[in-house]
Parts: sequence; structure tokens; C-alpha cells
Amino acid sequence: MSDPSREELAEHVGAAPEARDSRDSRDGPASVADVPKESAEFTIRCIDGVYIDGKRDSGKTVLTRHLIRTLPYKFWVLDVIGNLEEFKDRKAYPNVEYYLVNPHDASQVEPIFQKILAEGRRMTDYQKKNGLPIQCGMLVMDEADRYDYFTNVKSDLSDIVNLARNYGIGYIATARRTAAVAKDILANADWLLIFRNVFKRDQKILAEWIDVEPITLRDLDEHEFLIIYHGEAIGRTKLEHPE
Ligand SMILES: Nc1ncnc2c1ncn2[C@@H]1O[C@H](COP(=O)(O)OP(=O)(O)OP(=O)(O)O)[C@@H](O)[C@H]1O
Ligand SMILES: [Mg+2]
Repeated sequence: MSDPSREELAEHVGAAPEARDSRDSRDGPASVADVPKESAEFTIRCIDGVYIDGKRDSGKTVLTRHLIRTLPYKFWVLDVIGNLEEFKDRKAYPNVEYYLVNPHDASQVEPIFQKILAEGRRMTDYQKKNGLPIQCGMLVMDEADRYDYFTNVKSDLSDIVNLARNYGIGYIATARRTAAVAKDILANADWLLIFRNVFKRDQKILAEWIDVEPITLRDLDEHEFLIIYHGEAIGRTKLEHPE
């Protein structure tokens, strides 16, 4: 699959979610029941940061798989336990570079981050010079809370999540324990997609970024997730049952 054209991107950008919600954004919803059920598709741009949280088996990986399959971008997939193995198949997914990594081992992971940054910089320079459509890709990190080496090592991930949107690169990160996720991932996320979360410590951290009372994250249905865009809950929707 080739990189999407500017027009395709514009289409995705065009369906921005701002206009959807007539609620007064100064008053965040007190409970999940106050957040409107959202059946319409929401639109993620390739330069967006996306963070997906929820308890075990809530649907984080299923949702991630769905996004990779349906968004017309390049993806660099970092898989930890083989849950995203289907994307190894370069014939079926020519737009995906797949890596199975040990998340405790910086020497495995950091070269991949550096490669992504270098590729982004190179492509952007080339495209600017030649007036070509911008390169568009997303880093995918399933189980992002397991990259514990970040606490001791300065990671190039920080450049990806803070700067790489300038090179047309965004990210999708999933985790069960938000408390253990690199803060840069949360701070730069345009979207938080939040499944039911029962851990008080994680709820508290999520509440720093969203306008929903943390305790209500327990009230979501199984496989239902809140859609938070730039800190505001714009809807909730149930994951479609995977085939
Ligand atoms: N709408 C649905 N109804 C019923 N079951 C569903 C629905 N959507 C997803 N599931 C099932 O829920 C499970 C979700 O698993 P998934 O691997 O996505 O969880 P996860 O949040 O990534 O968990 P973990 O924290 O262990 O990585 C799968 O077994 C999937 O088949
Ligand atoms: Mg998972």
C-alpha cells in the first residue's frame, strides 16, 4: 500500500470530531452514563497520538488490530507477546513493518525508534524538495507499560511522541497499567480510548488528562470504550465483535 495522498489525509482530517458534541465542555460529565453513545466512526490522523487503556481482555489489542487494518497509513508495529503477529505478513500488509521485541531490552528497541525517526526525517526532506504528498505513518506499541527500561535510559521514544508529528509520524500505544506508562505517551496523546479500568491508581492518572470522574471508568460495559479527544469525552462505543 502506498502512502496516502494529501487528499486522503484531508478527508480524514475533515471528519474532525469537534462539531459533534453540544455539551458544555466546561462541565465534564460526572458519570459514564452522561457521555453520549457514539456509533459514528471517529477519525484518527496519522500524526495523532493515541493511547488505549483498559483492564485485561477489555479489547485493547482487538481495537489496535482494527485500526492497523483500516487506517491507510504506514505502521511500525512493536509487538511484545505475538498478539499482532498477523502483521508479519508483508504480502497481506505491505504497509506494515513488524517487530517482535523484548520490552526490557533497550538495545533491541531503541534502534527501531531511531530507524523510524531517521526514515521520517529523510522522507520529509525528500517530499518537501519534490512537492510530494507527506509521508504518513504510526508507531504501534502494544503493551506499552512493559517497556520498563525507560526508567533508566533516555529513550528515542520521547522524540517520536514529542516531535515526529513534524515528519508525519504519530503513534498508537496500549497498556493495562497507565501508572507504568512513559508520561510522554500520555502527555502527547490526542486521543485516549479507555475501556473499563478498575485500578484506582490508573484511574487517578487518567483523570489528570480527561474530564470524566475517574471512578466512573469502572462503569463502562464489557468491551465498551470512552472516546476522549483533547481531554474531552466525545462519546463511547462498543467494540464490534471480532470475526
Ligand atoms: N464486542 C465484543 N463482545 C464480546 N467479546 C469481545 C468483543 N470485542 C472483543 N471481544 C473479545 O474480548 C477479548 C479482548 O482481547 P484483547 O486481546 O483485545 O484484550 P486486551 O485488552 O488487549 O487484554 P490484555 O491486557 O490482556 O492485553 C478477545 O478475546 C475478543 O475476542
Ligand atoms: Mg492486549
